[in-house]
Amino acid sequence: MTMTEKIIKDLRLSNERFLHTLGVADCVKRLAERHFPLLSTEKLEVAALLHDFTKEYSTDKQLVLCKKYNIVMTDEEAKTPKLYHAKTAAAIAKDTYGVDDYTASAIYYHTTGRANMTDAELCLYFADYIEDYRTDKACIKVREYYQKLLAKERDHLVALKKGVLYSYDSTIMHLIKKGENINPTTIEARNQLVDEIKQNGERKTKNDRQRTGKKSK
Ligand SMILES: [Fe+2]
Ligand SMILES: [Fe+2]
Repeated sequence: MTMTEKIIKDLRLSNERFLHTLGVADCVKRLAERHFPLLSTEKLEVAALLHDFTKEYSTDKQLVLCKKYNIVMTDEEAKTPKLYHAKTAAAIAKDTYGVDDYTASAIYYHTTGRANMTDAELCLYFADYIEDYRTDKACIKVREYYQKLLAKERDHLVALKKGVLYSYDSTIMHLIKKGENINPTTIEARNQLVDEIKQNGERKTKNDRQRTGKKSK
């Protein structure tokens, strides 16, 4: 039995979340092939299959796992039980399935994102947001926005980064509308990406000017 077959057999998820999980596994491989061809799609597939492994556990069960795996949470993080599953799933991925730290970290940050994400973190975070089984409006909008950017941007990595930024904005706006707490990690991630995209744009404009010999105004 392969690792992926074993994980699929071990998953205890509702039908809807099981389909979502398969959708993320499919999407993460496509994102990696497009943007980061040196990444291991096998490892990413394992991360995708495990990313919501504990999502349907009760908060109490999550807390037991947090204790078992010495998962430290900030006061801010402790306020949002919905986010616990990313940390507990990452711990189980390492402990039970022997996933390496780099891959487990993609599971750990798949809900909040973080500033300066690794390539694997970016792929899993975004695949979780835009996989094909996602039907809520916000996800469809982000998916369509990213697809438009792919057609428009010469550099497909820019399309990915702008897509991820749009997803952060969308999540933050949604939480504000619902009057809910916003995880500072997501805000930091959003701000870092704004800076990165701006700096890349400025660098490209400068390079274009140098190529065409045009002076800046
Ligand atoms: Fe999740
Ligand atoms: Fe998910």
